[in-house]
Amino acid sequence: MSIFGKNFKKHAHSYSGRVYNSDRKWIIPFFVSLVVWITLISAAIFGYYSSSSLSNNQDLLSFNMAKSDDSGGYFVEMNMDKPSDFPKEKAPRLAYLISGTKGDSKRMMRTLQAVYHPRNQYILHMDLEAPPRERLELTMAVKNDQTFAEVENVRVMAQSNLVTYKGPTMIATTLQAIAILLKESLSWDWFINLSASDYPLVTQDDLLHVFSNLSRTLNFIEHTKLTGWKLNQRAKPIIVDPGLYLSKKSDLAITSQRRSLPTSFNLFTGSAWVMLTRSFVEYCIWGYENLPRTILMYYTNFVSSPEGYFHTVICNTKEFTSTAISHDLHYIAWDYPPKQHPRYLTIKDFEKMINSSAPFARKFPKDDVVLDKIDKELLGRTHRFSQGAWCVGGSDHGSDPCAVRGDDSVFRPGPGAARLSGLFAQLLSDDFKNKSCPV
Ligand SMILES: *[C@@H]1O[C@H](CO)[C@@H](O)[C@H](O)[C@H]1NC(C)=O
Ligand SMILES: *[C@@H]1O[C@H](CO)[C@@H](O)[C@H](O)[C@H]1NC(C)=O
Ligand SMILES: *[C@@H]1O[C@H](CO)[C@@H](O)[C@H](O)[C@H]1NC(C)=O
Ligand SMILES: *[C@@H]1O[C@H](CO)[C@@H](O)[C@H](O)[C@H]1NC(C)=O
Repeated sequence: MSIFGKNFKKHAHSYSGRVYNSDRKWIIPFFVSLVVWITLISAAIFGYYSSSSLSNNQDLLSFNMAKSDDSGGYFVEMNMDKPSDFPKEKAPRLAYLISGTKGDSKRMMRTLQAVYHPRNQYILHMDLEAPPRERLELTMAVKNDQTFAEVENVRVMAQSNLVTYKGPTMIATTLQAIAILLKESLSWDWFINLSASDYPLVTQDDLLHVFSNLSRTLNFIEHTKLTGWKLNQRAKPIIVDPGLYLSKKSDLAITSQRRSLPTSFNLFTGSAWVMLTRSFVEYCIWGYENLPRTILMYYTNFVSSPEGYFHTVICNTKEFTSTAISHDLHYIAWDYPPKQHPRYLTIKDFEKMINSSAPFARKFPKDDVVLDKIDKELLGRTHRFSQGAWCVGGSDHGSDPCAVRGDDSVFRPGPGAARLSGLFAQLLSDDFKNKSCPV
């Protein structure tokens, strides 16, 4: 094609040189032939382009189809015969967002240390309500940690956002954090959302070991379809989040106008705590298809967008519907009858938390004794971090075994891994899978 282009240019040039100098009688035939020439060449070029873009599309199509085929095989072993789908590394990597507000810096640090593993990526966001001093405290705590400084996998979002509880500014912050994680690290498989009042119930070795065996197409997102009176109650009001344009925090404003129910997509709702695959969040962030963007714009005026945005996107995208596992991987306890916020967990909930087999729980009061019990009995957290096979230093004279790092792709799973395997066996059973994105 480039050869064509060059020849054409050369010809046109040399002809044009003569046009002005010589007899003009042949100008008309010349232009006619030029037009024919241009038509022929552009037809050739256009034909080439359109056929190539068509075949690209077909590639894309078959690629998508291969991907959705793959969702039938939830375990990695079932995908062994498809080398293109087989993950590059046997051991997965996770990307965590830990968010907090005023007074949360110590808690965020504790949660971070409890879920820390050198394989993973971490990003911390402290909202604009926290005073600059506290944000600085958190940043310094991260900076001064020897391990974080060496591995370079923990970052604090420099720019903090005004976040309105239940408003779209919450979603905006989550999307920004994901975008940073995508830009900074090429190799994580799942994104996980935690707050300062969350805490793990298993070690990262347990989690990474069990996730090594899972298909990396699975999204853990608790969801149900919005129907009936709930649909009217949630979808008709129009809210405005002042956090989008004011510099001081104020409550969501509800307008007196109501809007009609959407007809071009179905609304889903569920837990705001999610564990999403890299391919799904890329789909949401990159916006090469318009649906994630359209739905984001729609949710700008919706109450509790964090409890609906990802849910509605995933359940309205054919490629992803069968990958949505309806569980948020958290143990959360509610009062009876349920209030707006979940109940604080205490030592009395310890056994129930373990029985749930969930990898995380919420919400915990600051520095509660139950956290010390979890550290001691479930995480083996004697120093900064939960125990892991990567901690290969000695522990005599009370020294921190994680001060010396070993191979981060070797795991030492404990009882937590057995509990998790039990949970996933249940979540991946036909019975449960059939509940993905109900129609
Ligand atoms: C992410 O985590 C925070 C906890 O800080 C939560 O409030 C928020 O709704 C979560 N989900 C999303 C989708 O942003
Ligand atoms: C993962 O799969 C391998 C091979 O099938 C198996 O030996 C191992 O026990 C599995 N691990 C878990 C945690 O399920
Ligand atoms: C936890 O599970 C064990 C064994 O299944 C059971 O005996 C116990 O009553 C459970 N505890 C709670 C608090 O549900
Ligand atoms: C799940 O769906 C499949 C086909 O879609 C069906 O054959 C199977 O019986 C369903 N299982 C349950 C437990 O509903």
